[in-house]
Amino acid sequence: MLKGFVLGIVVVIVAGLVVVYVGVTQGLLIPANADARPGKLETWAAHASLRATMRREASTSPNPLPTSIPNLLNGIKLYGENCSMCHGVADGSPSTIAAGLYQHAPQLAKDGVEDDPDGVTYWKIYHGIRMTGMPSFGKSLSDNQVWELSLFLKHMDKLPPQAERAWKTLKNPAPAAPATERAKKGGQ
Ligand code: HEC
Repeated sequence: MLKGFVLGIVVVIVAGLVVVYVGVTQGLLIPANADARPGKLETWAAHASLRATMRREASTSPNPLPTSIPNLLNGIKLYGENCSMCHGVADGSPSTIAAGLYQHAPQLAKDGVEDDPDGVTYWKIYHGIRMTGMPSFGKSLSDNQVWELSLFLKHMDKLPPQAERAWKTLKNPAPAAPATERAKKGGQ
């Protein structure tokens, strides 16, 4: 009786592994195309894992830089050079990259991270977010630059006038066609 039960479990596990193997090797379980929306399971797994990682690893200390105009201006400049192609500019228009990126990159002028703790935003910029297209900038930017970027993102919706002007004049590096045109072609 017990033997049959154990054998049953082994058969189910082996059959499951075969299904996963065939699904992956035939490109059915993890399709390779980027012009799709992620499934519920994929989204849940990615978010749950990211939240747990933030709880474990993100610093709870505040941004060490003062909220000064030069720091904010540096953050905006860095954002224009390294981030706007995926996260958009002040007018919210997506670039050709943002319109076709899988995972979808939040357009920060609309879906900003002002409420997130400094250490969480710092962690995401420094380490990147695996399998989403969000690069890790820890190797290419200095610690100070990552904090300047975090500072700008934290204050994006309440910038002093001089910084606000710099933010508003950042240009979309490669504007995508309007949403209606993209929808006709099945885009996001
Ligand atoms: C190649 C595209 C790409 C570039 C360039 C990029 N990101 Fe991202 N970023 C993403 C994607 C995609 C996500 C969403 C990840 C997810 O689904 O968890 C993301 C997520 C984030 C988040 C988390 C947003 C949230 O709602 O929690 C922050 C903060 C962020 N990026 C900041 C930056 C900064 C700052 C830069 C520039 C230094 C940058 N990113 C450059 C693609 C990009």
